[in-house]
Amino acid sequence: MNFPELCAARRSIRRYQPGLSITDDDLRQIFQQVQYSPSSFNLQHWHFIVIRDAGRKQVLRGMAYGQQQIEDCAAVVLVCGRLDAFEEAAVLYAQAAEEILDKFVPMIGGVYRGQPALQREEAIRSGALAAMTLMYAARHFGWDSGPMIGFDAAKVSTLTELPATVVPVLMMTLGKALEGAIPARLYRRPVSEIVQFETFQGTALAD
Ligand SMILES: Cc1cc2nc3c(=O)[nH]c(=O)nc-3n(C[C@H](O)[C@H](O)[C@H](O)COP(=O)(O)O)c2cc1C
Repeated sequence: MNFPELCAARRSIRRYQPGLSITDDDLRQIFQQVQYSPSSFNLQHWHFIVIRDAGRKQVLRGMAYGQQQIEDCAAVVLVCGRLDAFEEAAVLYAQAAEEILDKFVPMIGGVYRGQPALQREEAIRSGALAAMTLMYAARHFGWDSGPMIGFDAAKVSTLTELPATVVPVLMMTLGKALEGAIPARLYRRPVSEIVQFETFQGTALAD
């Protein structure tokens, strides 16, 4: 599948074939692509909790307005973002050239320390980019996915024992769509409506 085909094939799935398993090998294949997602200063704020246990998925469903796909999917991935990713800059830059390390490690501390709003934005931004890679990688390897924000973040954080420095970004169901259960894609704004040159009111990119 080439990239335009992959983009067209990725859909948010709400009806999965129940009872399917996703193995460690399947997950490894997918996450080996996810790790190449971009992040500011390469801080890689993302972290993923994979929930495969049937009992746990049932509990999660109750924390997500009863959405059936959580129980039927093969795994739920809680995509998380680390607020304190900047604290590990020295570790992440340990293999960089000395002048790079000496320049960037203090700079990163200066940018993020004492800036909770920015720390949160970056955690969400990086987590969201990784989530997009996750969806495309899953589709590439034959799995369907569904991003979800319809859940009680506090309860899910408690269930998954997230430390205070880690926030849920979104939940992602992974599984195989039930045949014939993918609805037609909803209206998408055309390119001419979403892309302008130079300024917000600038000339539109023609369709
Ligand atoms: C951040 C985010 C949160 C979403 N939350 C939910 C959700 O809780 N439940 C759900 O059924 N779909 C959810 N969706 C899926 C969207 O409804 C879906 O992406 C949109 O309708 C476009 O459909 P498509 O992904 O099939 O192209 C979410 C999508 C995103 C990106």
